[in-house]
Amino acid sequence: MHLFNIFTAAFSLLNIGRGVLGVPNPNSEHNLVERQARTTPILTVFPGQAALPTLADIINLNATNGTFLPIQNIQGDILVGMKKQLETFYFFHINDPASFKTALNSYVPTITSTATLLSPASSQPLAFVNIAFSSTGLQALGITDDLGDSQFSSGMYADATNLGDSLSTWESPFAGTNIHGVFLIGTDQLAPQDSYVSFYVSGIVSTFGSSITEVDRIDASARPGDEAGHEHFGFLDGISNPAVAGFSTTVLPGQTVVPSGTILTGRLGDVALRPSWTLDGTFMAFRKLQQKVPEFDAWTLENAIQNPEGTLTVQQGADYLGARMFGRWKSGAPTDITPLVDDPTLGADPQSNNNFDFAHANSSLISDQSRCPFSAHIRKTNPRADLADANTINHAIRAGTPYGPEVSSSEASSNTSTQDRGMAFVEYQSTIGNGFRFQQINWANTANFPPLKTVTPGIEPIVGQGSPRTADGLNPVDPSVGYTVPQFVIPTGGEYFFVPSISAITDVITAS
Ligand code: HEM
Repeated sequence: MHLFNIFTAAFSLLNIGRGVLGVPNPNSEHNLVERQARTTPILTVFPGQAALPTLADIINLNATNGTFLPIQNIQGDILVGMKKQLETFYFFHINDPASFKTALNSYVPTITSTATLLSPASSQPLAFVNIAFSSTGLQALGITDDLGDSQFSSGMYADATNLGDSLSTWESPFAGTNIHGVFLIGTDQLAPQDSYVSFYVSGIVSTFGSSITEVDRIDASARPGDEAGHEHFGFLDGISNPAVAGFSTTVLPGQTVVPSGTILTGRLGDVALRPSWTLDGTFMAFRKLQQKVPEFDAWTLENAIQNPEGTLTVQQGADYLGARMFGRWKSGAPTDITPLVDDPTLGADPQSNNNFDFAHANSSLISDQSRCPFSAHIRKTNPRADLADANTINHAIRAGTPYGPEVSSSEASSNTSTQDRGMAFVEYQSTIGNGFRFQQINWANTANFPPLKTVTPGIEPIVGQGSPRTADGLNPVDPSVGYTVPQFVIPTGGEYFFVPSISAITDVITAS
C-alpha cells in the first residue's frame, strides 16, 4: 500500500510543468520553435558527470529504505546539479504583492518538480521553471517568519565583504536588497535565444505583468561543442556533487553521501529549527562570478611550470600549472590520480574520476603536495582525507551554468577580457553558513586551511579572496615557492534565496 501511494504520488504529478505554459501555443507571436513532442530529457548529462537516477529507481530506493523524499514537491533544480544547456536567471522585484500572489497561484502548475525532471522524456515540459525568494521578497509578501538562517535574513550584499568581495565590483542590480526573487528557466536546447527559454520568459512577463519588474537577467548557456560541460577556463565542471540519501540511487566510487537534511530544510541532518512550511525547501547561494579567461591563459603561460624530468613545452607547463590550481586537468581527470599528464578517459569516467581522497600509501598527508597542492580549488572546497573523510555537513549541491561569449580572437591576442563572461554560480544547502559560505570563507579564503600541514597552504588561487593572494604548493619541483596569483574570478553580484517546496508556494507564499 505504501509503495502504491508513492507511485501514485509521483506519477500523478508527472504532468506538473505542463500547465498553461508547459506547451507553447502554436498561434503565439512567440512561435519561434518547432512544435513537436519532446523525445529527450530537459537535462543533459555531460561526459564525466554522474547519471541521473530514474523516477522508478528513486521510488524503489525509498520503498526499500522506508524513507520518502516527496520529489514531486521538491523544486527540480535542487538535487540534479549542473546539467543545463541553456539557463536564464530572471531576477525580479515585487511591486504589487496581492497581484503577484494571484499570478503565482495560477503559475504553480508550471513550476517544475524533481519528479517531472526525472520522468520519461516525453512527459517533460519544453523547459523547466523554478522560483526562489530573497528575504526581502518574502517580507514583501508578508511572510515575516524567521527561516533560521541569519545570512539569508541579511542578504548577500550585507555579507559581501565577509566573503572577501570588493563592493566596487558589484553590479548595481545586486547592490542592496532590491531583488525579491528569481525565476530559473532551463532546457536542453543548443541554440541560444530563439528558444523555449525565451518563450517561457515571455510567459512570465505576461503572467505576472506589472506585479513584478525585471531587475536583472542573466542568459547562461553551456559552452559549445567539445567544451560543453566545461567552465570558461576550460575545466570540466559538475563532476563532484554529494550523493543525497533518499535521492541518489547509486553512490559513485569516492562520492560523499550526505543526509537529505544537508541539502533540504527540515529533513534529517538539517541543523536548525525552522517553520514547518519550509520542509523540503533549500537555500540557494547565487553568485555572479566574472572570469578573466585571456588573463588566466596568459598568466599560466608566463608562469608555466616544469615536471621533475624537465620535459614539458611551455604550453604543457601552463596546462600543468592550471591543473594544479584546480586539482583536476581540463578533462576532469584528478591530479591526485594522474599527477603528471592529463587522462581524458579517466576524466570522462564517473566510476573513477572521483575515486581519490588525497591520501596515499608511502606518502605524507601533511607534507606531500606532489600530486595535488593543498591550495587547489577542489582540495580547499572538499578536503576529503585532510578532514579524515568524515565531513558531511559542509557539502552543497552545485548547479550553476557558464554565462557570456567565448573568448574572441582579439581578446586572446591581447590577453585582455573585453566581454563579460563567467559563472552563474549556484549552490544549494540547508544552511548557508555550513555550505557555500563555509567553503568560501573558512576554506578557500583561509591560508592555513587545510590544517596541520607542514607548510601554510595559502589562499585558494581560483576563487579564494584576501591578501596576499599567495598559494603554495603549485610548483611540484619546489612546493615551497609561493605564487602570488592575480584574481581571475571577480564576484560581481549575488544573493541568498530560499527555494520553497511547491506545496509551500500554494499553502503559504500565495496565501493571503
Ligand atoms: C568561476 C568560479 C568557479 C569555477 C571556474 C569553478 C570550477 C570548478 C571546477 C572545474 C571544479 C572541478 C569539477 C567538479 O568536481 O565538478 C570545481 C569543483 C568544485 N567547486 Fe568550483 N568553481 C568556481 C567557483 C566555486 C565556488 C565559489 C565554490 C564555493 C565557495 C566552489 C566549490 C566547489 C566545490 C565544492 C567543488 C567540488 C570539489 C570536490 O568535491 O572535489 N566553486 N569547481
